[in-house]
Amino acid sequence: MKPYLVCHMVTTIDGRIMPARWGTLPGPKSAANLFETTAASYGIGAWIVGTTTMLQFCAKPFKLKPVSAGARSALRRDHIAKPDAKRFAIGVDRRGRTFWRSDEVDGDHVVLLLSDRVSDAYLAHLRAAGVSYFLCGKTDVNLRVALDKLSRAFRLKKAMVQGGGAMNGSFLNEGLLDEISHLIVPVADGGRDIQTLFDIPGRAPKKSAAKLRVISHRMLGGGVSWTKYRVM
Ligand SMILES: NC(=O)c1ccc[n+]([C@@H]2O[C@H](COP(=O)([O-])OP(=O)(O)OC[C@H]3O[C@@H](n4cnc5c(N)ncnc54)[C@H](OP(=O)(O)O)[C@@H]3O)[C@@H](O)[C@H]2O)c1
Repeated sequence: MKPYLVCHMVTTIDGRIMPARWGTLPGPKSAANLFETTAASYGIGAWIVGTTTMLQFCAKPFKLKPVSAGARSALRRDHIAKPDAKRFAIGVDRRGRTFWRSDEVDGDHVVLLLSDRVSDAYLAHLRAAGVSYFLCGKTDVNLRVALDKLSRAFRLKKAMVQGGGAMNGSFLNEGLLDEISHLIVPVADGGRDIQTLFDIPGRAPKKSAAKLRVISHRMLGGGVSWTKYRVM
């Protein structure tokens, strides 16, 4: 079981994704505003991001309290803190790098997709903060397993994958994306090491990852182009 996945991103004409480098744009109020308003038009209540992107929304790291060995088996079970939640901020965090003081990002319930690498103390911290979590693999997060757990636990029918490049690349490479919503701002970045729309981790695959079919195309103010694609 998996939700229908739309990857939604704003990039430069060369596919780079770091808005802090773009300066003032001619049309939209800001890249963030462009991203949020177009994402909202889908009416999808769940967004999934990679660790680096989620670090922008969580608390600063702090010292974790030790937990007793007796607590271990209970902590190592998936934890659904808010079964009735309707909106979700979902982070892939295989090593437990994100820390939480609250169980929400702008009203969206925080759900983390973890691997067994995370410590018991980290899991106890997530429970205390009211964050839901799923253990989805030994050392890495198995994205198929994660999507299955998410759809069953929260009856999730649709979700948006919203970066960064590594996370988008991982979902694309696993054949899990159904649709891509791609906004292009009239900026050429050119920085060789700057993250792109899809950065599949590890060695470059022999062939391109997917063929696409255009669903729709629109020009927005300020020369922003918005194309929606179905992944074939
Ligand atoms: N323009 C846009 O629309 C847009 C949207 C969102 C984000 N962004 C930008 O994108 C930047 C971040 O992009 P990014 O590609 O560097 O980071 P990212 O995709 O958010 O996260 C990458 C990290 O996730 C972990 N990871 C990588 N592959 C994984 C996998 N297959 N399974 C589990 N975990 C995996 C790794 O961390 P560990 O090794 O620690 O596990 C990796 O360093 C941010 O600065 C943000 O501003 C732009």
